[in-house]
Amino acid sequence: MRVIIKPDYDTVSKWVANYVVYRINKFKPTKDKPFVLGLPTGSTPLGMYKELIKMYNERKVSFENVVTFNMDEYVGLKPTDKQSYRYFMEETFFKHINIKPQNIHMLDGMTKDYEKECKNYEKDIKEVGGIHLFIGGIGADGHIAFNEPFSSLSSRTRVKTLTESTIKANSRFFDNDISKVPTTALTVGVATILDAKEVIIIATGENKATALKHGIEGSINHMWTISALQMHQHGIIVCDKPATKELSADTVEYFLDIEKNNF
Ligand code: GLP
Repeated sequence: MRVIIKPDYDTVSKWVANYVVYRINKFKPTKDKPFVLGLPTGSTPLGMYKELIKMYNERKVSFENVVTFNMDEYVGLKPTDKQSYRYFMEETFFKHINIKPQNIHMLDGMTKDYEKECKNYEKDIKEVGGIHLFIGGIGADGHIAFNEPFSSLSSRTRVKTLTESTIKANSRFFDNDISKVPTTALTVGVATILDAKEVIIIATGENKATALKHGIEGSINHMWTISALQMHQHGIIVCDKPATKELSADTVEYFLDIEKNNF
């Protein structure tokens, strides 16, 4: 696993956006050979999306031949609902770039048949040849996508019940009203994420420090689903200084040293 430590949120966002652009451009995607990107929601990736839009406007990247799969969606929210992840993605990213609507994949939280929806999502990922780069955030309890503590590390796309702590954390997007937060979500599984050729997890702020400590220094454990990244051949955690607060000084020093000349 690589751990890239940057001083603050802005440098983290810039690093990730630059890396995404580098990967897309190196791949030279075409209509028949698109670049496949896995995408997150939440407040953490906002800076990355802003940077990607900037780079798109500067003609440093095109999303014409990029296919996307988002990680998750709340059950019961319409795409027009301001708290739905579909709405978030349209407003934050998709409407600002040249991605083709047919290349955007998001789980449908309004589906009548969760099982079929989730199965089809896995099938769609497979059909396009798998995800090249999956980008994710992390919950304070170490969850990736909506793979809450004790999720199977070999889980696939499915419906998940959200924990009280996640509902509480996400209530800030729902007028701080816990009762408005959906209690279930559709989410890719841990194994769906690990299947990607490369995975980047972004973690910023002190409230992610405990999760990072378990993810990087702890053993692989379903209590902290982020720790499954240790099994990936090309897993990268990009974090800011505050998020490293609970790592040992030796760990921080090791990664700062080993990554000092890398992209
Ligand atoms: C939600 C999402 C996760 C995200 C997490 C952290 O639970 N399902 O994908 O990583 O929130 O969100 P934030 O970046 O706002 O801290």
